[in-house]
Amino acid sequence: MVMQHNTTQLLALIGEKSMLQSKFLSESLQDITAEEASSLESLVEFYKTQDNSLEQIADKYLNLVNSLFEEQKYFFEYEKYRHSTYNEAKHIYENPQHMDSYAIGLGLSVFLWQVHRDIMRFFKKYLKLCVGGRYFEIGPGHGENFVSAMKAASFDNFTAIDISRTCIEQTLSYIKYSFGAERNDYKIICGNFFDYPEIDKFDSIVMGEVLEHVENPIDFLKKIRAISNKNSLIYISTAINAPQLDHIYHFHNLQEVYNMLEQAGFKICDYVATTHKNIPLDKAEKKKTPIVCAFILSPNKEAQNA
Ligand SMILES: C[S@@+](CC[C@H](N)C(=O)[O-])C[C@H]1O[C@@H](n2cnc3c(N)ncnc32)[C@H](O)[C@@H]1O
Repeated sequence: MVMQHNTTQLLALIGEKSMLQSKFLSESLQDITAEEASSLESLVEFYKTQDNSLEQIADKYLNLVNSLFEEQKYFFEYEKYRHSTYNEAKHIYENPQHMDSYAIGLGLSVFLWQVHRDIMRFFKKYLKLCVGGRYFEIGPGHGENFVSAMKAASFDNFTAIDISRTCIEQTLSYIKYSFGAERNDYKIICGNFFDYPEIDKFDSIVMGEVLEHVENPIDFLKKIRAISNKNSLIYISTAINAPQLDHIYHFHNLQEVYNMLEQAGFKICDYVATTHKNIPLDKAEKKKTPIVCAFILSPNKEAQNA
């Protein structure tokens, strides 16, 4: 796939700064589609409109990558994530510089990394199954899923909540960049999902890679169950053996995630689990290398009081 102008320059800058990333990205980008390459180009253009030079975007991406390497080293040595409580990780959400690099790096990874492209494709599959109504997202971060949902155009309105002010600003700017000022069918809230009123119900609930950021994921899932109605369709992705500064809940294997979702009162309709270079799942679990998984869920009607 031939990349467009900004993307080509960005990849060259990343390559100049890190040979390892250059090799990793050229392998990872083998199966990117023309549509994804065009979305990636548009994302890079968006970051440029936010007063970032291509060099700064490359640096922000590499900041994320370097931080992941650091956490991977810690994980191999101690077999656990560095932080395990929200209080230990809180300073990360409150650090605008870190969160800016983080949101930009992760936003790019949606298209640059094969693992995240697989997950994004599964999310698009989920959007096609949604029949409309009210859309709710927890932790939009860089805003890619939220904007994709708004483009799907089958929802009446859209709400998102994120604990990080920087991520809220990033999502808002990305919405404005994607739709101009013409849309007024969305609401973005800065806050902790734990504090969201359970009386408000939604038809479509999305939570991409947030579960591993909370101390009590089962309570978080039960809260999602509480804001679902009986026909809601829910999308949740999470990461297993994936050390990151703000990952505080360590899932060891897919079965653990599966069990927790069922325990929280969900029926699993479909799922995907993806690994770097598509190494088999059992091998990844044994070697404790990262797995990203995503699920399409419906409330289990037999577990009303879950
Ligand atoms: C890894 S990012 C996920 C971004 C995006 N959804 C994705 O799938 O790539 C995690 C996001 O969850 C947010 N977050 C973490 N804990 C939260 C909480 N308790 N309530 C709301 N948002 C939270 C973070 O600020 C961050 O934006």
